[in-house]
This record gives sequence, C-alpha cells and structure tokens, in this order.
Amino acid sequence: FSVVHSTLVFLGGRLFDGNQLSGKIPSTVGLVQTLEVLRLDRNSLIGPVPSNLNNLTSINELNLAHNQLTGSVPDLTGMDSLNYVDLSNNSFAQSEAPSWFSTIQSLTTLVMEYGTLQGKVPQKLFSFPQLQQIKLRNNALNNTLDMGDSISQQLQLVDLQNNHISSVTLNSAYRNTLILTGNPVCTTGISNTNYCQLQKQTTNPYSTSLANCGTKSCPPDQGLSPQSCECAYPYEGTLYFRAPSFRDLSNISTFHALEMSLWIKLGLTPGSVSLQNSFFNVDDYLQIQLELFPSIGNGKYFNRSEIQRIGFYLSNQTYKPPPEFGPYYFIASPYAFPVELGGTSLSIGVIVGIGTGCGVLILILMGVGIYIFQQKWRAERAIELSKPFASWGPSGEDSGGPPQLKGARWFSYDELKKCTNNFSESNEIGFGGYGKVYRGMLSSGLVVAIKRAQQGSMQGGLEFKTEIELLSRVHHKNLVGLVGFCFEQGEQMLVYEFMPNGTLRDNLSGKSGIPLDWKRRLCIALGSARGLAYLHDLANPPIIHRDVKSTNILLDENLTAKVADFGLSKLVSDSGKGHISTQVKGTLGYLDPEYYMTQQLTEKSDVYSFGIVMLELVTSKQPIEKGKYIVREVQIAMDKNDKEYYGLEEILDPKIRNLQNPIGFVRFVDLALHCVEESAEDRPTMSDVVKGIEGILQQDGVITKSTSASSSAAEFRTTKGKPQHPYDDALPKKDVNNSDAFDYSGGYMLSTRVEPK
Ligand SMILES: *[C@@H]1O[C@H](CO)[C@@H](O)[C@H](O)[C@H]1NC(C)=O
Ligand SMILES: *[C@@H]1O[C@H](CO)[C@@H](O)[C@H](O)[C@H]1NC(C)=O
Ligand SMILES: *[C@@H]1O[C@H](CO)[C@@H](O)[C@H](O)[C@H]1NC(C)=O
Ligand SMILES: *[C@@H]1O[C@H](CO)[C@@H](O)[C@H](O)[C@H]1NC(C)=O
Repeated sequence: FSVVHSTLVFLGGRLFDGNQLSGKIPSTVGLVQTLEVLRLDRNSLIGPVPSNLNNLTSINELNLAHNQLTGSVPDLTGMDSLNYVDLSNNSFAQSEAPSWFSTIQSLTTLVMEYGTLQGKVPQKLFSFPQLQQIKLRNNALNNTLDMGDSISQQLQLVDLQNNHISSVTLNSAYRNTLILTGNPVCTTGISNTNYCQLQKQTTNPYSTSLANCGTKSCPPDQGLSPQSCECAYPYEGTLYFRAPSFRDLSNISTFHALEMSLWIKLGLTPGSVSLQNSFFNVDDYLQIQLELFPSIGNGKYFNRSEIQRIGFYLSNQTYKPPPEFGPYYFIASPYAFPVELGGTSLSIGVIVGIGTGCGVLILILMGVGIYIFQQKWRAERAIELSKPFASWGPSGEDSGGPPQLKGARWFSYDELKKCTNNFSESNEIGFGGYGKVYRGMLSSGLVVAIKRAQQGSMQGGLEFKTEIELLSRVHHKNLVGLVGFCFEQGEQMLVYEFMPNGTLRDNLSGKSGIPLDWKRRLCIALGSARGLAYLHDLANPPIIHRDVKSTNILLDENLTAKVADFGLSKLVSDSGKGHISTQVKGTLGYLDPEYYMTQQLTEKSDVYSFGIVMLELVTSKQPIEKGKYIVREVQIAMDKNDKEYYGLEEILDPKIRNLQNPIGFVRFVDLALHCVEESAEDRPTMSDVVKGIEGILQQDGVITKSTSASSSAAEFRTTKGKPQHPYDDALPKKDVNNSDAFDYSGGYMLSTRVEPK
C-alpha cells in the first residue's frame, strides 16, 4: 500500500471484514514522514518490522498488535511525539525492555501484552510526565520492580500480571492500580495486598455490592436484586461508553453516580440497578454489564411495556449518564418474559406452587398435555407459516414457493403487534404515503422501525414478495438494513433497523442537538454517496433510488449515514377507477429537471437529488425555502474570487461559517453543482461523486479505505458470487417506469448489530 500524502492510516483488522492484510510491512512506510497515526493491528502481518520505521518522527499513535511480526522488538527511538503504542501479541524475539522505554517522554500509554520481554522494567518509564497506563502483562519480566521516586502524576494503571518479578520496592506516593498477580513476588509478604489480589478487580473493578444479601444464589436466568435480596428476572444488557473521561475503575463514587442516575432517570426504584464487570475492552471502550430489576412488589418480571420503555430509553440514548461517562450505546439481551399459558401469565414459581399443592402427578400430566398441545400447535403453525409463501398470488396460485431471502426473517403479525404495544400511538415515529412507521423492540432486544402499509396502499402479494426478495439482496453498510417482514392477516409490514439519530434533515435543522461539524458532514456525504453508488453499480439488479433527500438519509448511533426509503409509494392502486397509476416518486425540490421532459428517472436523477443534499449539507437550508431554490441561490451567490467562502458566506450554515477554512469546501461546492447540472449527461456518476468526496477527505488526511467501486465491493458482506435474480433479464435497468421491482432501496438485514465503533 502506498500512503504518500496521508497523515493517518487506519488499516486495523477490525475495520476490515475479512480483508486482512498479510505479508510484510513495506519499508516504504518509513518514508512518509508526516504520518501521525499508523494502525495495522489485527491483521496477518509477518516478518520483521522495517528498521526505518522510526523515521516516522511525527507519529503519535502506533498500533501493530495482534499480528505475527518477528525479529527484534521494533526500535522506536526518535519517535518523539509518540503517545500511544501497542505491540501486543506478536512473536518478537526475546529481549530486554528496549531502550526507548526510557527515552520517549511523550508516552501516555504503553501496551505490550503477551510478549517476550525479560529483565527489569526500566525505572525511567514511570516518570514520563504524561504517562497514564503501562500494560505489560504476560511477558517474562523478572528481577526487582522499582518504580522510583518520581512517578508520573497521571499514572493510573501498571499491569504486570503474569511476569517473573521476584521482588518489589513499593513507593507509597503511588496510590493507583498496580497489578502483580501471577508473579513470584506474590508468594512473599505482599501476597495479601491489593497488588496481588487485583486479579478479580482488573476484570471486575466495580460490582454493585450485594454484600447485604449474604451468599444467596439464584436459579439460572435470574439474578439477585440488590434492593430486596430476592431473585428476579433482570433486564440485562451491556453499556459501552466510548470516551469516559476517567481511566480509574476503582473509584466507587463514579459508579454509584451511574447507578443512581440510571434508577432515577429510568423511573425505577432505588437499588434496582446492578452493575458488573466493568472493564476497558479491546476498542478501549468502557464496557459495563447492566442488570435492572423490577420494583419490589411488582413480582419477578418486568411487563412488556416496561421493557419497551426502558429499552427505548437506553437504545435511543434518551437516557444521559453522568457527564464523565460521555457518549454510550446499549446492547440489550433478550428478555425472558414469563411463559404464557392460555393467556394468563404463570411464572415458574406459580407453576411449582400449583405442583406441590395439587400433587406432582397432576402437574406432570398437565405438563405432558401442554407439551403435546404446544408441539401440535407449533407444527400447525409451522405449516401455516410456510403457507403464505405458497399463495402470494391473488387467487392462491403458485408463485414459485417461498421467497428467497438472505437473512431477512418472517415475523408474525402478533409478534409485531406485541413489540409495538399494539401499534400504539406513542410508538409512531413516522408517516408516509405508504402508511405509518412504528418503533418496536423485538424480544431479542433489537430496536426496529416497522413500516406498516395502510389499506389502499397495499401491493399485491406477488409484488410484495418481489420487493422483499430484492431488498434482502441489497446489503451495504450505508443502506438501512431490512430485518424482516410480515405478510399475514391482510397486513404488509417491513421491519428495518432503527436509526437512533434520526434523519439528516432533523440533524441539519438542529432538532437533534448533535452538532454536525464539517468533517462529519463530509463523512455523511461520503457514506450516503457510497450507499447510492452501491445501488447503481453493484446491486443486482441495479436499483435507482428515485427519492433521494435529506429525510431519507438516516444516521445510526455512530452517525454513520444510511440511505433509506420509507416512501414505498410508487404503486398506488386507484381502486375507484380500476386502474393502477404510477405515481411520481421524487420530491419537489429534489426532482431531476429532465424528468419533466422524459418522464423517466435514471441513475442521474439520483445524482441530481444527491447534489441537492450536498447543498443542504453546506447551507442547512431546505431545498426550497421561502420560495427560493437552493441551486439558484448558490449559483447566484458564488464568487470564485472569494478564496475563503466562495462568495457563499451569507447562505452558509453559521456552524460552518465560523470554522477556519473548512477542508475542501470549494471542491465540495463544485462537486455539488456538478451534480445538479441541467442535463443528465453532464452530471457525474454516483461513483465519481464517491471518488470526489474521498479525494476531499484524503486531502484532510483521512484515508478512506480506497476508491469507490472497489471499496464498495469490499465493504458489504454479500455472499460470494453474483446472486441470481429471476428478473435479471426480464427487467432492463433503465426501464424504471415499468419495473415494479426497483421501487425502493431500503437495505438488507443485519440482525447482528453493527460493530461497536
Ligand atoms: C532474568 O531473566 C534472564 C533471562 O531469563 C536471566 O538471564 C536473568 O538472570 C534473570 N534475572 C534474575 C534476577 O532472575
Ligand atoms: C471519584 O469520583 C468522584 C465523582 O466522580 C470525584 O468527585 C472524586 O474526586 C473521585 N475520587 C478520586 C479519589 O479520584
Ligand atoms: C407494567 O408495569 C408498570 C410498573 O410496574 C405499571 O405501571 C403498568 O401499569 C404495567 N403495565 C401493564 C400493561 O401491565
Ligand atoms: C426514546 O424513547 C423514549 C421512551 O420511549 C421516548 O420518550 C423518546 O421520545 C424516544 N426518543 C426518540 C428520539 O425516539
């Protein structure tokens, strides 16, 4: 790889889905003197690290962990800006701590776990003024540990577990964490100190105290509620804090504050929150296991509406933790609602009660009866479930069996009804020509958006089948994923991933409260452009979105842009007149001017609409505001001689105007105007747009992984080989007006959560 003009290189394996780098680190890396961040972790790199790596004198983050690098531990002498270095899990030759352990004063974090270091830990290391963490567990460090007298004030953690250290000179000025568990020194006089017993604390430094409850234990699936010392079914999940402002996990008051804020803001009773297993994970996110217990007197379970309420609060980030915890996301575990028997909820406890009261035999008979009944019911259900697929056609005619779905699943009407609280108004999050959109939470804890077709905008079964087959093939990280669908009891519903940060429009208008700085806007533009380029160039068959606009670009918890289309309104059957009219899909202000002449929408129509979105990103204005059209406004105001604002100072979003020199601003505006050329022929293709925006971001130093088509191809997790689509030949690409199939573009599945980044 060549990284000649860049200052940041992110090629960590976690960013790549199975696209591992292998081979040696090229020595040319050393030539890029301006490089500031080099992440090559979690790949399959082999061989020695080039000896000229330390030519990278500007580097401040170096991560080579989890490869199979050999040779001697790299010499980093001279990298005097280095803050963070991680060389863990490689196969370097045995050696003493390299000399740079004592010379790179700028270090904040030094990580080299599972390595081959031996000898003494250099004392000098502990005195570096900014040093916060030293993590050297599982090496062969031996001899005496002497941290010296001038220990950095910032130092929070020294982890030397599982080395061969035989003695230690303790400095009473150091009060933060030092872990020596697994060293010979722990068999000596200090064996009872925290230094040797922190094993538990490193993975579990804070756990809600259950000391008052004695040694009581609970049946599986249940937990001990701290408020009552009773067993109950907790609502569980994991909180991931992406940037807490503290490193010290031993400060109990921090965690008490979190517990308290959870029970207060979630409307639970005091003591109903239990935190366990807090630790910094491989992404350096603070990960905490959360258990919430039902209030005393409300039984062992939460009811459905409670779970939904709490789940939404955490998943849509309405709940704000104490400020030191910073931004977070929450991934819930499925909640085990009580087994329902004939409509009444009987908890296991109650069943046991009946059992002992009426005789075990009866219970067993009952159990067997219920079991048989359930099996029968299940079997019937299974047959019934496979049936709708056999009768997609209007009069039950065969239409080729079940739809070929890749990952999207079938939902029963009852399931979706339950998870939206009977389609309650409070769960409504949108409304379109097609029908209403509801928020729901599946029993797995996944929050979804459910689009429910209303009477009159329903399609024929066959069209619906075609649609979901098509949708389930489209799969890209910048397209909103289809989780599943429901086709039952006269209902048609599509279930999508829920995007907690809402639409781009809401974010631009300031409704959401998330400031979109210029870089974020560029990334949003790039993400959505990639999604569209994928639809045009790589989806099979190609898809024209036909309704690109800022309300169809949604932002997930990480502000990754995903293109959606909740319109679904192309085919409106006008039953009164007995014919089907093809409704224009585009939205005023975004609509390709050529459409008026040709009555055809093409890929270039999407490009036009996307150009408008780009102008919105610059101005935060609606395409048509107070009768003024954004394209014309920008064209009139533009002044090439104004190097700073391009003449657009007046109409810029003030948030950008206040920036010093937003990177690539002029190029971005030029690209946007290129997209909104009158004639489709003059507009770039979507993949040109991707390349253009990538170029701008590269200028800013963020390597954007590669160029459009190839990068798009690498990014989505399609199955190998081109999927065969039954309509490949039947439906020519440009023939949009006749193709029912290509109407919308919501993406495909992923019930597995997006990687926590
Ligand atoms: C530390 O380990 C090295 C290599 O195994 C050995 O040569 C040296 O004698 C050890 N030092 C002490 C004090 O045990
Ligand atoms: C522990 O945290 C609390 C609140 O977050 C803070 O006020 C206090 O200073 C911290 N204590 C120590 C010893 O860091
Ligand atoms: C669910 O539980 C909450 C609090 O325990 C209660 O206020 C609410 O009425 C319950 N809802 C239903 C539908 O039972
Ligand atoms: C998040 O969920 C809560 C609880 O259901 C709700 O009050 C709030 O409006 C939701 N916020 C968003 C942005 O959906």
